[in-house]
Order: sequence, then C-alpha cells, then structure tokens
Amino acid sequence: MKKFIISVVTSALILISGQGIAADIEAGKKKAIEVCAACHGPDGNSLAPAFPKLAGQHATYIENTLNGYKSGDRKNLIMNGLAANLSKEDIQNLALYFSRQSGLSTKK
Ligand code: HEC
Repeated sequence: MKKFIISVVTSALILISGQGIAADIEAGKKKAIEVCAACHGPDGNSLAPAFPKLAGQHATYIENTLNGYKSGDRKNLIMNGLAANLSKEDIQNLALYFSRQSGLSTKK
C-alpha cells in the first residue's frame, strides 16, 4: 500500500512538472549555441568577466532580462540588438535551457 501511494504521488508530480514546461529546451540549446555561445559560452558559463554567466540562473530572471533588452527598458548596445531578433518563444526556450545548465561554481 505504501509503495502504491508513493508511486501515485510520484507520477502525479511528474505529470505536474511536465505540464509546467511549455518551453522547448532543445530549441533553446540550438539557438544558444548559434547565437549566444560566442560571448556567454555554449552552456552559459562565460569565459570573460565582461559577459555575465547565465548557467543555472533562474529561468524567470533570464526571461525578464531578455524582455527588458528587447523592449529597450534595459539598455546595452550588444544585447538590445540581439534581443530584438528573438521571438517570445525563443526567449522562453533560451531561458529554460540556460537555467538547466550547471554553473562553474556549482560544478564539483
Ligand atoms: C557579442 C557578445 C554577446 C552575445 C553574442 C550575447 N550576449 Fe548576452 N550579454 C552580453 C553582455 C556584454 C552583457 C552585459 C550587458 C549589461 O551589462 O547589461 C550581456 C547580458 C546578458 C543577460 C543579462 C545577464 C544578467 O545577469 O544581467 C542575458 C540574460 C543575456 N545576455 C542573454 C543572452 C542570450 C540569450 C544571448 C543569445 C541570444 C546572448 N546573450 C548573446 C554580450 C553578449
């Protein structure tokens, strides 16, 4: 009985967490490697201090920041130009991808 309850709860959790993710992590990865890797690294671990690390950052934070660059609320010559070419979906996919990468400081 206990095992049954645990498996029901586990499947419910998998279902809920699965439904919460509308963004496409693979599309995010593709775009990240094509467009962002030169500065932020392929997995969001930027090599130069001038480029903020994105790996492991909260998806919502990345999404809000990119929307800020896109709308012009947040100003940076490089990022304003890049974000202008990203769609709402691109931004969500990229945010999900980078948020799931582990940062250098958290790597063992
Ligand atoms: C030519 C280099 C370059 C490229 C390519 C680039 N970025 Fe950036 N990015 C920067 C710089 C420089 C900053 C810091 C800007 C600032 O101070 O506001 C930045 C900042 C950011 C931030 C804000 C991080 C923070 O913690 O404040 C995000 C999010 C971001 N970039 C995402 C992306 C994504 C996603 C892509 C690919 C679509 C990308 N960047 C491509 C140079 C780049």
